[in-house]
Amino acid sequence: MKIGIPKEIKNNENRVALTPAGAKELTKRGHQVFVQQSAGLGSGFSDQQYEQGGAKILPTIQDVYGVGEMILKVKEPIEEEYSLIQEDQLLFTYFHFASYEPLAKAMIQSKAVCLAYETVEKPDRSLPLLVPMSEVAGRMAIQKGANYLEKPLGGRGILLGGVPGTLPAKVLILGGGIVGTHAAWMAAGLGADVTILDVSLPRMRYLADIMPANVKTMMSNEFNIRKLLPTADLVVGAVLIPGAKAPHLITKDMLSLMTEGSVLVDVAVDQGGCIETCKPTTHEDPTYVIDGVLHYCVANMPGAVPYTSTLALTNATLPYALELADKGWKEACKQHQDLELGLNIIHGEVVYKAVADTFGLPHTPVSTFLK
Ligand SMILES: NC(=O)c1ccc[n+]([C@@H]2O[C@H](COP(=O)([O-])OP(=O)(O)OC[C@H]3O[C@@H](n4cnc5c(N)ncnc54)[C@H](O)[C@@H]3O)[C@@H](O)[C@H]2O)c1
Repeated sequence: MKIGIPKEIKNNENRVALTPAGAKELTKRGHQVFVQQSAGLGSGFSDQQYEQGGAKILPTIQDVYGVGEMILKVKEPIEEEYSLIQEDQLLFTYFHFASYEPLAKAMIQSKAVCLAYETVEKPDRSLPLLVPMSEVAGRMAIQKGANYLEKPLGGRGILLGGVPGTLPAKVLILGGGIVGTHAAWMAAGLGADVTILDVSLPRMRYLADIMPANVKTMMSNEFNIRKLLPTADLVVGAVLIPGAKAPHLITKDMLSLMTEGSVLVDVAVDQGGCIETCKPTTHEDPTYVIDGVLHYCVANMPGAVPYTSTLALTNATLPYALELADKGWKEACKQHQDLELGLNIIHGEVVYKAVADTFGLPHTPVSTFLK
C-alpha cells in the first residue's frame, strides 16, 4: 500500500504520525511510505532518518495527498486540506467530529474513508489511541495550571503544594478517566489537595484504591460541583462521553462562585469543553479571562511536547497502521472490532451513531460496508 505522511499544519502542531522506525516496519513489509519534506523535524526526526527507514521524501503536501492510498495524520484535516482529500482515500487520524460540524460535512463530501483514532475502542471499552495523548495532556494540565496560578501569569498567586505552615492549593478534577488520573498523580505528587469527581462508582473505587491520601473522590453532580467551586484554585475538565459533545458541568453563572485568579484548564475542549465558557485556544495565545477566572483551553496540548507525544502516539497507532496497510481497511476492520469502531464516515455516509446524532444526520450501519 502507498502510505502518505503529511506535515501537520495546525497552529503549533509539531507531532508527526509516523517515526522513521515506523517507516522501516512498513517498508520491510513491502509498503511504500511517502513523507512530506520536514514533516518530522518538529519531533526531532530528519528527512534522512526517514530515508534510512525506506521512505521517500516528497516536497509538498499536495504530492503526499496525491499519492497516498492511506493518509496517516495526527490532527484532523484543516480547511486548506479539505480539497486535497480524494474519494476512497483512507484517512487514519484524530477527527473529533462532534466538536466541528464543517469538518464532518467536508469529510462527507470528500467520499473518503475516515477512521478516527479517538473512537477505536477495545472490548473493555478502553480507547487505546486516546490513552497516550490523554496521559500527556493530563500530566501537562497540572504543569500549566500550576504555572498560571502564579501572579505574574494572571493567577491568584498560590503555590500548588504550599509550604510548611500554609495550606496547599485545592485542585478539582472533573472526570477520573485517563486525563483525570494522570492529572491527579501530578497534582498529588506536588502536594496539592485533590478531589476527583466522576459519575462511575467502579472508577472511583479504583481511584480510591490506587491514589495517595491527598486525593479524594466524589460523585459528580451539579450540587457537589457548586459546593466545591468556591474553594477550588485549579479546576481540570477531563470528562468524556465517547464520540459525543462534552456536557457543560460548569455553566457561566457558576464562575461567580469561584475566587478571582483561580484557573480552569479544560482538557475536554476538543469535544466542545465541559465548561460552558470554554472556547478553543492555541499554544500561541493559550488563555483568556472571564469573570476573573483564567481559562486555558488549548485543543492540542500534547503538541507542545512533540518529542514525548510523537513517540507515545506512534507506539499505539503503528500496530493498527500495519494491519490497515497489510489487509486494507475493510479486511482489517472485519478482523479487528476495535478498528471497526474507529470508522466514522465512509464514502459520504456517517457510520458512527454518536456523530450522526450530534448533527441530526442519517446513520448508516457500518455493516453495510463490511460485507
Ligand atoms: N486538549 C487536549 O490536548 C487533549 C488531549 C487528550 C485528551 N483530551 C480530551 O480529554 C477528555 C478526557 O479524556 P480521557 O482519555 O480522560 O477520557 P476517559 O474516557 O478515560 O475519561 C472520561 C471520564 O469522564 C467520566 N465522566 C463522564 N461523564 C461525567 C460527568 N458528568 N461528570 C464527571 N465525570 C464524568 C467518565 O466516567 C470517565 O471516567 C476527552 O475529551 C479527550 O478528547 C484532550
